[in-house]
Amino acid sequence: MRTHYCTDVTEKNIDEVVTVAGWVNSRRDHGGLIFIDLRDKGGLVQLVCDPEDNKEAWEVAEGVRDEFVLIATGKVRARGEGLENPKLITGKIEIVLDKLIIENRSKPMPFDLNDEKVNEEIKLRNRFLELRSQKSLDIFTLRSKVGITVRNTLDELGFLDVETPILTKSTPEGARDYLVPSRVHGGAFYALPQSPQLFKQLLMVSGFDKYYQIAKCFRDEDLRADRQPEFTQIDVEMSFCNQEDVIKVAEKVIYDVFTKVGHDIPTTFTRMTHKDAMEKYGSDKPDMRYGMAMVDVIDIFGNSTNEIFSSIAKDSAHNRIKALKCTNGDNLFSKRQMKGFEDYVRKFGAKGLGYFQMKEDGLKGPLTKFFSETDLEEIIKRTELEVGDVVFFGAGDKKTVMDYMGRFRIFLAEQMDIIPKDKFEFLWVVDFPMFEVEEGKIKALHHPFTMPTDINKEHIEDIESIAYDIVLNGTELGGGSIRIHKKDIQAEVFKLMGISDEEASEKFGFLLDALEFGAPPHGGFAMGLDRLIMLLAGTDSIRDVIAFPKTQKAQCLLTQAPSRVDEEQLKELSLRIRQQANA
Ligand code: AMO
Repeated sequence: MRTHYCTDVTEKNIDEVVTVAGWVNSRRDHGGLIFIDLRDKGGLVQLVCDPEDNKEAWEVAEGVRDEFVLIATGKVRARGEGLENPKLITGKIEIVLDKLIIENRSKPMPFDLNDEKVNEEIKLRNRFLELRSQKSLDIFTLRSKVGITVRNTLDELGFLDVETPILTKSTPEGARDYLVPSRVHGGAFYALPQSPQLFKQLLMVSGFDKYYQIAKCFRDEDLRADRQPEFTQIDVEMSFCNQEDVIKVAEKVIYDVFTKVGHDIPTTFTRMTHKDAMEKYGSDKPDMRYGMAMVDVIDIFGNSTNEIFSSIAKDSAHNRIKALKCTNGDNLFSKRQMKGFEDYVRKFGAKGLGYFQMKEDGLKGPLTKFFSETDLEEIIKRTELEVGDVVFFGAGDKKTVMDYMGRFRIFLAEQMDIIPKDKFEFLWVVDFPMFEVEEGKIKALHHPFTMPTDINKEHIEDIESIAYDIVLNGTELGGGSIRIHKKDIQAEVFKLMGISDEEASEKFGFLLDALEFGAPPHGGFAMGLDRLIMLLAGTDSIRDVIAFPKTQKAQCLLTQAPSRVDEEQLKELSLRIRQQANA
């Protein structure tokens, strides 16, 4: 229908007759002369119509309203002196209408496409309209480009794109499953995959050697700004490999993606052990765009005459006292703000938040009286304080202190406005513990198929695994591990987790069986594609990068899913609703 996309019409086409097609971005009537900005996926071009020149086209143009669909033919001419628009690619030309067809009309838009502040519910209900915005188009162009780059790179590296089932059995990623009732087997359910984890391991047993998939995953979990119930992973698995081989592949994929879309990043990324990340940044996904590492001061506080501190310091195996320097904090924040900081950390279990101010004549603050001059000097030295700085302290049980001080580090950095927005800082977090103990229950930190380095440790929490996460600007972009490929190790892991042989066999029997048929050593990783695009596009919400996303309450406002179904359909599935939830 068209000869050119709007933005392909340039000065080169002056005096040519062209046909463009698209939506009316705006229409202006200047005393008879009508101007229409026509929009297609590339951008805008200006149409102009003078009743003196072409009465017929002008009459059509007069009836045009925003978002009408037009097919317009006319001659390209240079805009008059001073009438050029440098903001538009097509700002030097306009198309003088010869023929105008209104291909379709549009109701008035329920919201302004260019207004970022419109209520999100309205936008999601009309998502197909929101997707008309330039911002959305840019995001999905980027997403498409990233997808192709990932495929090209993995293809070049010899990976095979294999699809794994969506109607399957529960997979062990730790969230709740989405279940699909079976009609044929009344009372039985499929689970949607939380990841292709077990299938990709099976493909290694099949000898496929290198697998990848841009895979849809489903997890029924609490939603946050970077979580959706339905999301996409770049999922990779390879055989006869060690951690280095897998990391190399992930780095190559990331490098190719970032350079392809115009960002200069290193070819390899820094690494940090999980233990260091937790001790220094109170997080297993530290944001490395700024410093502010926490410093251990439990030994110094052990000398203090304050009973609370000295008793906490006595049990350095279970407790921590961490110092966090806030450069120039004394000048940046008022007493009231400092009080606000304390309120912030209390929300995460802190009993209080002590601090010292570094003045010309040394450390000041209500706590100094509990410390000797030598110890105060040691605090200054260890935390590298300069005049004007403030140093905060968190003291208490290890897990709580690291958690709230880690959060406080981010909170402070935001308050200080020191986080560079246009920087990409990657970090591998390695040597994850194999297990974590939550309320007395032993859980695998990654998943139970991760290879432990040495399973015979006295304390279960000291067992490490060959697992690694890739972190970008404080967001967990992906993770993976070397897997267990021997049945006896797998059995031992299940035993430690209190999973009986029957339960293991019922849940993962097919994988355990496969381990008995010559499973090669293997490992892999998965990266969240949505999160990757979010970070590349510089947007705060994962919903921006998913064409038809769900709300925080896991609803699709556009289609109204999830929705009730007919009694008849339920009957067919052998189901009865016990209690109707409030929709
Ligand atoms: P994991 O559970 O760490 O590992 O998931 C890998 C990556 O997927 C992304 N992700 C999500 N993105 C959006 N919404 C969600 N709800 C969501 N959940 C996870 C994250 C995360 O880092 N099978 C293993 C990988 C492996 O070991 O190979 C797995 O799924 O970016």
